[in-house]
Amino acid sequence: MDLKAHIRAVPDFPKPGILFYDISTLLAHPAAWKETVDRLAKVIAPFKPDLLAGIESRGFLTAAPLALELGLGFLMVRKKGKLPGPTVPYTYDLEYGTDTVEIQEGAVQPGQRVVILDDLLATGGTLSASVELLRKVGGEVAGGACIMELSFLKGRDKLDIPFESLLQYDD
Ligand code: PRP
Ligand code: MG
Repeated sequence: MDLKAHIRAVPDFPKPGILFYDISTLLAHPAAWKETVDRLAKVIAPFKPDLLAGIESRGFLTAAPLALELGLGFLMVRKKGKLPGPTVPYTYDLEYGTDTVEIQEGAVQPGQRVVILDDLLATGGTLSASVELLRKVGGEVAGGACIMELSFLKGRDKLDIPFESLLQYDD
């Protein structure tokens, strides 16, 4: 199945000059979405995960069905201030300013093999920050995967974990 055919490219969103790859059309097609989740399950199997992490918000859509399919637990990496109870933050640099991601304390047991999921790898900033956050609490980040990778942004070079993407875009 050609999964790219189920992803809509929207020009000039969210800003002029940006081509936005929208997974809404993929989510709306049950067979294509099932195929996506099945393919992700195959590419992350070699990482031997104990636990999956999804990055807010589109990473939740990616990781939650996969966790269910693989019979694994799922944890949320969220933007600051969204999780109740004690949390662990990690702050990282953006082009202008900083951003912070958080997980709940106790969400990862030391040494657990965590695989991180998101819909898209662009600059790699979000995924690499999530890797650092999971390491900060003693998790062993066994790998990462995304549905789409904007290869021309070379986000992969920012990652020091095994990484897989299903679809690559060169522009
Ligand atoms: C998008 C995308 C990835 C991230 C990739 O999320 O879903 O999470 O950006 O960019 P990067 O590799 O340059 O860090 P966004 O922040 O737009 O939020 P959303 O998932 O809540 O829509
Ligand atoms: Mg996102």
